Amino acid sequence: MQDSALTPQPEITLGPQATREHAGDWIPGRRVIRFGGDYNPEQWPREVWDEDIRLMKEAGVNLVSIGIFSWVLLEPEEGVYDFTFLDEIIELLHAAGIDVDLATPTAAPPAWFYRTYPHARAVTREGVPLGFGSRGIVSPSSPEYRRAAREIASRLAQRYGAHPAVVLWHVHNEYGTPVTESYDDASVAAFRTWLARRYDTLDGLNEAWGTNFWGQRYGQWEEIDAPRQSGTATNPAQRLDFARFSSEALLECYRLERDAVREHARQPITTNFMAITCPSVDLWQWADEVDIVANDHYLVAEKDKNHIHLSRSADMTRSLARGKPWILMEHSTSAVNWQPRNIAKQPGEMRRNSLTHAARGADAVLFFQIRAGRKGAEKFHSALIPQAGETSRKWAEAVALGKDIAALDELVGTRVGARVAIAWDWVSFWAQDLDWRPSVDLDHRERIEAFYAALWHHGVTADFVHPAADLSGYDVLFAPALYLIDDPSAENIRRFVSDGGTLAVSYFSGIVSANDDAPVGAYPGQLRDVLGLVIEEFLPLRADETVTLSSGARGRVWSDDITLTQAEAVTTYTDGVAAGRAAVTRNSFGRGTAWYVSTCLDGADLDDFVTGVLDSAGVSYAPSGDVETVVRDGGDRRFVIQINHGDQPGGVGVEGRDLLSGTRVDARDPLAGGDVRVVAIATQSSGS
Ligand code: GLA
Repeated sequence: MQDSALTPQPEITLGPQATREHAGDWIPGRRVIRFGGDYNPEQWPREVWDEDIRLMKEAGVNLVSIGIFSWVLLEPEEGVYDFTFLDEIIELLHAAGIDVDLATPTAAPPAWFYRTYPHARAVTREGVPLGFGSRGIVSPSSPEYRRAAREIASRLAQRYGAHPAVVLWHVHNEYGTPVTESYDDASVAAFRTWLARRYDTLDGLNEAWGTNFWGQRYGQWEEIDAPRQSGTATNPAQRLDFARFSSEALLECYRLERDAVREHARQPITTNFMAITCPSVDLWQWADEVDIVANDHYLVAEKDKNHIHLSRSADMTRSLARGKPWILMEHSTSAVNWQPRNIAKQPGEMRRNSLTHAARGADAVLFFQIRAGRKGAEKFHSALIPQAGETSRKWAEAVALGKDIAALDELVGTRVGARVAIAWDWVSFWAQDLDWRPSVDLDHRERIEAFYAALWHHGVTADFVHPAADLSGYDVLFAPALYLIDDPSAENIRRFVSDGGTLAVSYFSGIVSANDDAPVGAYPGQLRDVLGLVIEEFLPLRADETVTLSSGARGRVWSDDITLTQAEAVTTYTDGVAAGRAAVTRNSFGRGTAWYVSTCLDGADLDDFVTGVLDSAGVSYAPSGDVETVVRDGGDRRFVIQINHGDQPGGVGVEGRDLLSGTRVDARDPLAGGDVRVVAIATQSSGS
């Protein structure tokens, strides 16, 4: 362990994702960090547009996303097109040197569309068709919607595919929200087709879904329905397949539009993900379908240390991008309008937030939105140009941030490396969230957050990985919540450990395989050999019950009755039903090591477990206090980015040129409370 008083120059540890080829020029030939956001000029009279552009220039805005909700303006009646509005605003932006990220408007079909095709509306699990007056209420499987969406995307690409201002395509908006699963007729029909492809025969489906339970056996494909609200718990395999199908139905919509755009346009095409906040789409499947990964992130404003949530989102996005640069498509300058209490950002907080995304791999820092709205549901949402206008503190901060971003162009294309990974599988989360689990206190989100936070507090940058992905470049894989492990993932994890990796698994992992079925033999079926133990019985705890471990640590939520088959007990329970039995275990498997923790540890107890795992794997770490430190590496140039989230100076030990202030930083210079620096450090090749 290192001494945090004078942290040496951070070790450069490039993980497997970072060593792939650099891809800095996602907009060919323009190596600048992008700054800007969603721009909705259609909500304003024409004269405001000139004012907007003047202000954008003042703030250094160089990329705006337009057209996201403009379908009815572009196609006021079915088959009747009018591009006047887009023609004009694109020309104005182009003349001002501001590039355009042009959206397909398909997240908000017009009123005429629903009047003509009322059955295209999404239907809830309870059977309620959604009403017009909001957005995103369409069924992804509606053939009419798919045809109309493809057509408008194609028209846009034909018209603007060659326009020099258009540098990026933004398909749809935030797939998966507010609707992923729709229970309309078209979805049910498409679900049956999807099932026939997956299982081939009804016998295969009956076997996979275990339909002999409660007499659910199907004799005809037409008998199969979406898993709508029923009398009590619905077949878990049916629900899990419907979740898979629904995510894929949205992905088909994306592909349809992307391919329509690609026929006429050569610019990169993307869609904005919600990497850690949209639970219902499997973004591992989506990540390879976009030319550059883009993400939206909003602070959980009321939460203490919400900047750790932000870092987690950024690390997840970089992982989806397989280490390549990514776009922060949306975040907020201050409060949003949709949380229970919409807390404003403090002076300096927007800057720290934006630069943390950049530190963790974003090559574009964009906001929702450029000008605060006056009408509609989002009028209380902050924006780059606030209601208070250009004399406001917020505007001054926006202009200052634009200058900061403009000073960071050297970062373009550099990579963030990690030797530690956290397993993340949406399918496992969907399965765990179904009905009737052994305890309502089992919470995969909470466990992943807790493990991530422990790593963050020790200055360890982590990637997220699908458990079946290439793990060979990582030293440590944490699996804080991996309830469902399918056969390829189990095999992959086994190979990772036997080849010398260190695995650390938390409770209620490896419990079921692909169809939510329990193993033959004891839990944790998929991990029995690698962990070297079997679970005789789950021992969930009462609401406020805790158990004590021989190390003095306290656990809550969960315990197991463990029999060691191969592993050794690192600590045992000293009270509770499992008193005298193993609590934390370690097993040698091939050339590697596998740890298991069978209860919910918090705070210093979890820190001890996590650092014990890191120590055993030889991964260095240093308690970071409030100063977040990340390295972006460009081969011949390296940057240490430090963000001080506290109010005291900290984070010494870095030496080089600060791109933001333009001054030299000495190893003994602390970073002031609330401040950020981006230090170009000497490398052997640069000599600077
Ligand atoms: C989402 C949407 C935007 C806007 C913001 C508000 O991210 O994509 O259109 O509604 O939320 O925070």
